[in-house]
Amino acid sequence: MCGIVGCILKENNRNVAPILFDCISKLEYRGYDSIGLATYDGNIHIKKDKGKIDEVNRKLDLPDMPGSFGIAHVRWATHGDPSKLNAHPQMDEENTIAVVHNGIIENNTKLKADLIAEGHTFKSDTDTEVIPHLIQKFMDEGRDLEHAVRKTIEILEGAYAIAAISSREPDKIVATRKDSPLIVGLGGDGYYLASDSPAILKYAKDIIYPEKGEIVILDRTGVVVHDEFDNPINKEVDTINWTPEMAEKEGYDHFMIKEINEQATSVKNTLTQKDNIQKIIDDLDDISRICFVACGTSYHASLTGKYLLESLAGIPTDVILASEFKYSAKTLDENTLVIFISQSGETADSLKALDVANETSKTLGIVNVAGSSITRRAQYVIQTQAGPEIGVAATKTYVSQLTAVYLFAALMAKDDRLLNDLDKVPDFINEVLEDVESIKAMSQRYNYAKDFFYLGRGYSYPTALEGALKLKEISYIHGEGYAAGELKHGPLALIDEGIPVVVVIPPGDSHKKTMSNLEEVKSRGARVLAFGAADDEELAEKAPEVFKINPEVSEIIAPLVYIVPLQLLSYYITIEKGFDPDKPRNLAKCVTVE
Ligand code: F6R
Repeated sequence: MCGIVGCILKENNRNVAPILFDCISKLEYRGYDSIGLATYDGNIHIKKDKGKIDEVNRKLDLPDMPGSFGIAHVRWATHGDPSKLNAHPQMDEENTIAVVHNGIIENNTKLKADLIAEGHTFKSDTDTEVIPHLIQKFMDEGRDLEHAVRKTIEILEGAYAIAAISSREPDKIVATRKDSPLIVGLGGDGYYLASDSPAILKYAKDIIYPEKGEIVILDRTGVVVHDEFDNPINKEVDTINWTPEMAEKEGYDHFMIKEINEQATSVKNTLTQKDNIQKIIDDLDDISRICFVACGTSYHASLTGKYLLESLAGIPTDVILASEFKYSAKTLDENTLVIFISQSGETADSLKALDVANETSKTLGIVNVAGSSITRRAQYVIQTQAGPEIGVAATKTYVSQLTAVYLFAALMAKDDRLLNDLDKVPDFINEVLEDVESIKAMSQRYNYAKDFFYLGRGYSYPTALEGALKLKEISYIHGEGYAAGELKHGPLALIDEGIPVVVVIPPGDSHKKTMSNLEEVKSRGARVLAFGAADDEELAEKAPEVFKINPEVSEIIAPLVYIVPLQLLSYYITIEKGFDPDKPRNLAKCVTVE
């Protein structure tokens, strides 16, 4: 959902553009319809265009720009089509101020009309362009860059992380944020800012997290932060423990397949959070209800949490889509624990809901990105240990979220057996990954399909939903997940000759009934792809196509393991179809607009 970076080098005789280009390339997962850089060397130089980073770079040679400080942007269009004019950086009328922005300026129509009435002329259709024009206006009135930015944000409504440079006041970058992420990095050779840490891991490990309304000034001597009342403040400096290699493909064709292959490690690392989770549980007393709030894949991890907490710990549990949360807010009270699951920790829908929940209830964030907004606003935090996830489709963060939820439920229920079983999950995942050739072969047989159905019961129902989401978001094949027993109440009408139906059928209580549903679709001509236990003879007999999983993977822990072959199936079907799984059309990794 757009990514921004900025850098000012300590030495003014080195060119910053190669660094800016390297940093912004690491944020392509946040937006890939346009890219642009601005550097300063006596004048502001701009190179920008629509297209993916590689395409634009082949045309413009982006690292070849003069100047030792600058800003850069990747765009995921909200206002205005992807085009050169709408790409960032956006500038004022006199080309003296360049701005990159992530977010949405909600009152841009009114601000633009007011500025036009004052004589300003606009060149783009973006909401962002009002920002350099306002900064220009306030600098014309005699303010310096910092105070012109401050004055500008007094009248902006909406969400933003902004970085600005000006030829009227060179050798500094001024940045600020509200409801969009922004981090500041203190590096050996210069000072950095970025929407997300993978951008600057190679250059800076010490990080400052600016809060809403704070103004950050980066110059060659350091970083100064002023609070909303213009007072200088001392910010805590955190150290990131992610390495630059974690944000590289390391020989894999795509981040998605690399991240699928890292899942055993992600689970193992997240299991180390057990003591931290126990401390949180000890601190939470009088919890009579749990409410999960999340979006997309994180919503599916939450649904699994409901099955676990209700069946193991007997705690009434609801799962609410973050964008729908406000309609349920009146049912919250001080005995409700509201759990926010989010890989990015920056999803606008979830953040809005978190602010509401904080007013009445206890709140817990299960988040992958350290220092992200949810980690700072929730009362308790469980940090999943997946490392940076670059592929837009969530994979390793999903199994890490599940691991945290399983630990939470098992500790709440004091279920030692489940805790022991969780230790075996990394090996089960690796066994699935070793059988990748079976999935590749399957993907060649089914890439013709226009529609897929995914069925599962109980613990396997969220797996069916997540399998279908993975398929549709990267391969653009329509995939629907259903509770297996629900099919006969309507969707069965859609089952036709040759339609692929994925059936998630681990051994356990739900097996018998799911088998009946498998027969229902098979007898109507569906091509069944079953994912079940290697020793399931009945399944081998009834399903023409079975992906075999270790029989020790019980129905309860199946969500952590059975999702892996479904991710692989989506990945390889997408490769067969010739699409880029890391950059699905219209989607962005971090959704910072409501
Ligand atoms: C799908 C996917 C999205 C996210 C959703 C919430 O692969 O990644 O559905 O799960 O946008 O994002 P987070 O977890 O960052 O709150």
